[in-house]
Amino acid sequence: MSHSVDDSLLKPDAKRIHIETWGCQMNVADSEKILSLMQKENFQLTENPSEADLIVLNTCHIREKARHKVVSRLGVLKELKQENKDLKIAVAGCVAQAEGKKLLKQAPTIDILMGPGKIDELPRLLKERQDSGSQAMAIGFNKPKYDDEPSGDLSCQQSVDVTPSLFGKNEISRFVNIQQGCDNFCTFCVVPFTRGREVSEKPEVIYAKAKAHVLHCASEITLLGQNVNSYGQDLQKNGQINPSEAGPFVDLLAKVASIPQLKRLRFTTSNPHDLTKPLADLFAQERKLGSYFHLPVQSGSDEILGTMRRKVTVAEYLERVKWLRDAVPDMAISTDLIVGFPSETEEDFQATLDLIEKVQFCFSYAFMYSPRKGTAAIRFKDQVPEAVKAERLARLNKLQNEITIAQNEAEIGKDREVLFLYESLKEPGIYYGRTRHFRLIRVASRRPLVGELAMVKVDGANKTALTGSLI
Ligand code: SAH
Ligand code: SF4
Ligand code: F3S
Repeated sequence: MSHSVDDSLLKPDAKRIHIETWGCQMNVADSEKILSLMQKENFQLTENPSEADLIVLNTCHIREKARHKVVSRLGVLKELKQENKDLKIAVAGCVAQAEGKKLLKQAPTIDILMGPGKIDELPRLLKERQDSGSQAMAIGFNKPKYDDEPSGDLSCQQSVDVTPSLFGKNEISRFVNIQQGCDNFCTFCVVPFTRGREVSEKPEVIYAKAKAHVLHCASEITLLGQNVNSYGQDLQKNGQINPSEAGPFVDLLAKVASIPQLKRLRFTTSNPHDLTKPLADLFAQERKLGSYFHLPVQSGSDEILGTMRRKVTVAEYLERVKWLRDAVPDMAISTDLIVGFPSETEEDFQATLDLIEKVQFCFSYAFMYSPRKGTAAIRFKDQVPEAVKAERLARLNKLQNEITIAQNEAEIGKDREVLFLYESLKEPGIYYGRTRHFRLIRVASRRPLVGELAMVKVDGANKTALTGSLI
C-alpha cells in the first residue's frame, strides 16, 4: 500500500516537487514531512528535477564536503531555471540554518531558504516568494510549547499526520522523530547550532504516529533523535511526564514495542553518556529490539575524548558495551569514529585501533575530522595534516573491513530471523532484508516476502551483505 497521494486524486493543475536529501535520517524524516505538507498544496512528487516546479535541496552541514555538494548542485540546477522561468529552488536543512543570509546573497538561484526548525513554513514561504518576487527566508527555532496539561493517556486517539514515504522506498521501515536538537556541544559538531536545543516530542504523539505507520503497513519503526537516550528529560523537568525508574526513553520503547503488528523497533542515535543499564536490560526482554546497537564512540583515546567533550572515558564506554552484551551475548555493535582530531598522536590513533579490536564492532562509520565554523575545535592547536588523516582513515578502514568480513563469514550456516524490507527493482524475486543483528541479506523467493519476518539459512557472505535461502 502506498501512502503517497493517488494521482487520480490530484487536481488537473497539480504541480511537481522534486526533493533531494543528504545527511542523516532526520533529514529523510524532514523530507517526508516537506512532501506531506506540499501534497496538501496540490504538489506531486517527481524523481526528475527537469519536470519540477519546486526543487528542494535538504542539506547537511556535518562536514565541509557536505556543504560543497550543495554549492555544486546549485550550479547545475541554475541551468534548469533558464529552461523553466517559473521553477523555484528551496534550500532546506542544516546548511540553510548555518549559512542563512550569507548563502542567499551568494546564490541568487535560491528562491527560498529554510532551516530544519521552519519546515512547516514552506507553503507560506513559497507564496511570499511568488507575491513579493524577492528571496524568502525562515531560520531559527520556535520555543517549545509545554501545555498546562500533563502528557495524557498513550492509548488515546491522537490525530496525527502519517507522512508519505519518498518513492515508496521505505514503506516497510519508517522513521518517527522523537526529539529535535542536541544539548551536548561536542567540540567538533555543528548539530547543536543547526538543529537547536533538545526538545522531545510527547510520548502520546510518538505512539500515535508509530501506530498509524504500522496500520499503514510498516513492519519496522526507527525512532530518531541526535541523542535518543536522553529523550524526555525536558518533558520530565516541565512536569509533562512522570516516568518510571527506568526513565522516559525505556518507557517509550516499551510502549511503542507493544503495538501488536509491529515486528521490529529500532532507534538512533545513542550517546554513550546517556545509555543506562535499564535500557541495555530491555534488550533481554523485548525481542522486537533485535540484537544490534549503534553506539558512537568517536575515539579510543581518553585524551581525545576529553577534548572532544564526549563526557565518557574509554573504560565507561566499555562498561556500557558489557551491559549490552550481558543482556544479549551476541549483540552486534556499530560505532562512529573520527580520525585526525586536533592533537591526535599516533599513540591516540593506535588506541582507537585497539578499541576496534577489543569491541569487535560489526561496522564503523569513520570520517576524517573536518573543522567546522562556530565549533570549539576549529580553534584547537595541533590540527592534524590532511595526509596524516587520510593515511589513518585507510588503516582504520582496513582493520574494520577485516573484522566485518570475518563476522559476516561466521554467519554462514546459521539460521537467522530476517525482516524483509524490499524487493530488488532490477531483479524481481530477489528480496533484501535485515537479520536481528542488522546484517543485510539477499534471498531469492517465489512468494512475496516484503514486510515479513522469516527464518533464513545463511549460505554466503561478503563485506556488505549475506545471502541465504528460506528455511
Ligand atoms: N548525535 C550523534 C552523532 C551525530 S553526527 C552522536 O553523538 O553520536 C554523526 C557523526 O558525524 C558523528 O558521530 C561523528 O562521527 C561525525 N562528525 C560530526 N562532526 C564531524 C566533524 N566535524 N568532522 C568529522 N566527522 C564529524
Ligand atoms: Fe553532535 Fe555530540 Fe550532539 Fe552528537 S551528541 S549531535 S556529536 S554535539
Ligand atoms: Fe547533517 Fe544536519 Fe543530520 S548536519 S548529519 S543533516 S543533523
